[in-house]
This record gives sequence, C-alpha cells and structure tokens, in this order.
Amino acid sequence: MADPSTGLRAGVRAFIALELPEEARAALIDARQPLEAVSERTVRWVGPDNLHLTLKFLGNTPEERLGAIGEAVQQAVRTVSPLALSLGGLGAFPSAERPRVFWAGLEGDLDGLSAVYMGIEEGLLKLGLPRENRLLSPHITLGRAREGSPSGVQRRIGAMLSDIELPALGFSAKEVVLFRSILRPGGPVYTPLSVGGIGHGL
Ligand code: 2AM
Repeated sequence: MADPSTGLRAGVRAFIALELPEEARAALIDARQPLEAVSERTVRWVGPDNLHLTLKFLGNTPEERLGAIGEAVQQAVRTVSPLALSLGGLGAFPSAERPRVFWAGLEGDLDGLSAVYMGIEEGLLKLGLPRENRLLSPHITLGRAREGSPSGVQRRIGAMLSDIELPALGFSAKEVVLFRSILRPGGPVYTPLSVGGIGHGL
C-alpha cells in the first residue's frame, strides 16, 4: 500500500523462522507454567501459536522483495534433510541474574540447523541482503520482561529456570517460514507469507 504523503510503498516487518510442531509448542507451554504463575504482569509471554525459532530478522522490507526472499528460502531448504531436534534447557538473556528474555534451547542436529541458517544467508546475500555478523544462537523466545517491571520478580523467575524439566521430546523440524509481523497493542500478529519445506526436493 502506498503512503499518501510520500507516494512510497510501505515496507513489511518481516522475519524468517523455523516452525515448531504443535507437540513441541505444547510442551513448552506446559513447562513454563510455574514461571507464568509467579510472573503475572512482569513478563509478556509469547502465545502458543507464536512460538518459533527466529533464523533471521529482516525488519522493514519492501513489499515487492518478499516474493524473491520467499523463493530464496524455499531453494535454500529444499534439499536439506529434515532436522531431528529436541527441546533443550531454559535460559535467559542477558543472564539469569538480569533476565530480559526467557528462552528454551534446542538439542540434536544443531549442525544441520546451522547449515540451514547459512544456506538462507547465502541465498539472501545473492539478493543483496547483508549477512548477519554473528553465528546463529538457536533459541525459542518464551517471554520478555515488561519494561519497568520489578527486577526482583524477574530474578526470581531467572532463578527458577534451571529447575524446570523439559520432556525428552524428539521432533522433526520440517518448515522454514517467511512471516509478516504486525505489532498490535495486544501483542504481535504473525502471518506466514511463504513456506519452505525442508527436504521437499530430496
Ligand atoms: P527473538 O526470538 O530472538 O526475540 C519476530 O519479531 C522475531 O524476530 C522475534 O522472535 C525476535 O527474535 C526477532 N526480532 C524482533 N525484533 C528484532 C530485532 N530488532 N533484531 C533482531 N531480531 C528481532
């Protein structure tokens, strides 16, 4: 849609993420319940449908580029074997003592996951999108501390993280999705724009 004041087409806030199967998302929601019970109003917990592993945040992206970006993602993942993963432990950025972002880690074929990430970066580089200057730090964001919320409560949640047991749940990650993100007061709304099937071309 064009901005009437400038005549320019508005960009789309977009990101690329690994989709998690429903059972993995449900296990995360179950596991974090003790944290939610003590963090009312201090943490914005990510809704079950919004849990994902971000591979690349694109930010504001011209709408006309999204088709080529989606195709590059599809090409990058179509001949990669599906990733055998499991849920890892919980942690916090920047630290459990000063937590801002609460996350779950992954275990299993993390080399395969890195290869998927690098393949996407290479594909996007050909389209002129700059590479990230850092390696992938694979994590699933479960919640974010609200601005100005009491740091004591956040520290308490940080201290609880290592006691939480995640089920030994193995799963296969099959899709990398290009999402549009619309920021709404009640939380972001993510809409899939295109889906890259991992291993679909094998
Ligand atoms: P995160 O899981 O590491 O927090 C959609 O907003 C996704 O894009 C989020 O899950 C978040 O990844 C990532 N994201 C949002 N804003 C970002 C930013 N400014 N820089 C990098 N990643 C961002």
